[in-house]
Amino acid sequence: MKIAVLGTGGGARAHAAELVELGHEVFAGTRDPEATLARTEPDMMGNVPYGQWLADHPGITLLPFGDAAGAADDLVINGIDGHNAVAALTRIADRLADKTLIDYAVPFVYRHQSEHPWPTPWGVMPKLDPCDTDSLAEQIQRALPETKVVKSFVTQEQTTVVDPRSVGGGDHTMFVAGDHTDAKQHAIDLLKSYGWRDILDLGPLVCARGMEMYAHMHSAIGFGLGQQFGGHFGIKVVR
Ligand SMILES: NC(=O)c1ccc[n+]([C@@H]2O[C@H](COP(=O)([O-])OP(=O)(O)OC[C@H]3O[C@@H](n4cnc5c(N)ncnc54)[C@H](OP(=O)(O)O)[C@@H]3O)[C@@H](O)[C@H]2O)c1
Repeated sequence: MKIAVLGTGGGARAHAAELVELGHEVFAGTRDPEATLARTEPDMMGNVPYGQWLADHPGITLLPFGDAAGAADDLVINGIDGHNAVAALTRIADRLADKTLIDYAVPFVYRHQSEHPWPTPWGVMPKLDPCDTDSLAEQIQRALPETKVVKSFVTQEQTTVVDPRSVGGGDHTMFVAGDHTDAKQHAIDLLKSYGWRDILDLGPLVCARGMEMYAHMHSAIGFGLGQQFGGHFGIKVVR
């Protein structure tokens, strides 16, 4: 399949690389390919410059966000920074019409003012906005009514999303939520191809609120495990 991965961060790279391994044709999206390829410094998470990474990962075509989305048969993965995702996706809404958009972004706002900051090993914990009474996934769905938005992947680091067997032999739980049954099935099929065996359909997209708000717990568990950046663990719903 032709699949688009919008984003050049560490999470998007994990999906793009695995999708190529699985035999898909992958179109990676960025704001400005020339500028992205001209970068010489690691990004804020320490990932090597994108051009250097791309040279080691043949088979991925880097395009502007809209062209990458337009090149996909149906499936598009959103790995655009959560705070900027709605604006960026709205600009390319026509290229995403009728497609399945799997969103794994967290609506983190960095460098915010807080009366009660949460100090972490890497600085003050960002705040979630929206949260509680709305979610990023719902905002995206409202902004792109012709697109079928599915929230998934967001409760883990993407390196373990694409390689679930690397945690507990693969015996942990992944979630999906969305208002479009066919799109959710596409997400589930993709997850199965990654090796997921326990996929829990939470129901409508409103459940994305729970998935996104879990971001703080994900960080807290990582700190508890002594894993300051990212985190190599999963969660299991025991029933
Ligand atoms: N990394 C993970 O494992 C992981 C796990 C769970 C959730 N998440 C969440 O998923 C999202 C993506 O994470 P990530 O680590 O893959 O990448 P990231 O570093 O958070 O985001 C990088 C992407 O966001 C784009 N971007 C940044 N500012 C923008 C702006 N003003 N307008 C348009 N695009 C902009 C960048 O565009 P350019 O390509 O043009 O630079 C780049 O493609 C984040 O919300 C993150 O919190 C990540």
